[in-house]
Amino acid sequence: MLNDQLQKLVNNLIQIEHVSTTLYLAMSAYMANQNYTGMAKWLRLQSDEERTHMLKLIDYVTDKGGTVAIQELPAQPNQFGTPLETFKKVLKHEQFVTDSYRQAYNYALQEDPQTALIIQDFLREQIDEEAQAQTIVDRLTIAGDNQAAILVLDQELGQRNVAPAAGG
Ligand SMILES: [Fe+2]
Ligand SMILES: [Fe+2]
Repeated sequence: MLNDQLQKLVNNLIQIEHVSTTLYLAMSAYMANQNYTGMAKWLRLQSDEERTHMLKLIDYVTDKGGTVAIQELPAQPNQFGTPLETFKKVLKHEQFVTDSYRQAYNYALQEDPQTALIIQDFLREQIDEEAQAQTIVDRLTIAGDNQAAILVLDQELGQRNVAPAAGG
């Protein structure tokens, strides 16, 4: 069984993944509207991946006999600026997610090793999530105002096919 504090902790992580799903969906729609179809596709797949993270946490709470509490979602913006500005927001969000998992992990370590192990998977996955966002930000920075270079990157990001195996 999860005690109340741990249940609250995991439900908070569920909410964070749920927000990530909707944020990336909003970004994807915005990018599609700007005709950056590759980035739109990448963000849609990222949204799907965040949803698998949320589902994994929901299953964990259920497996432990806890109660899942799905919270209200905040509205997301409908504009995110240039591709560079948009992906900087992705990076910033992933850094926030990493911080949340880091804090949750520290708490779980003292309270329940099983919950800590589950959170550890997500924390490890965040290394990759941040690195991916950082790479896109770096490449968009190199592209600068060169529209042709941005379109090449857009095409490259559109080659993403399946969401990588969910860890966190
Ligand atoms: Fe996630
Ligand atoms: Fe993420």
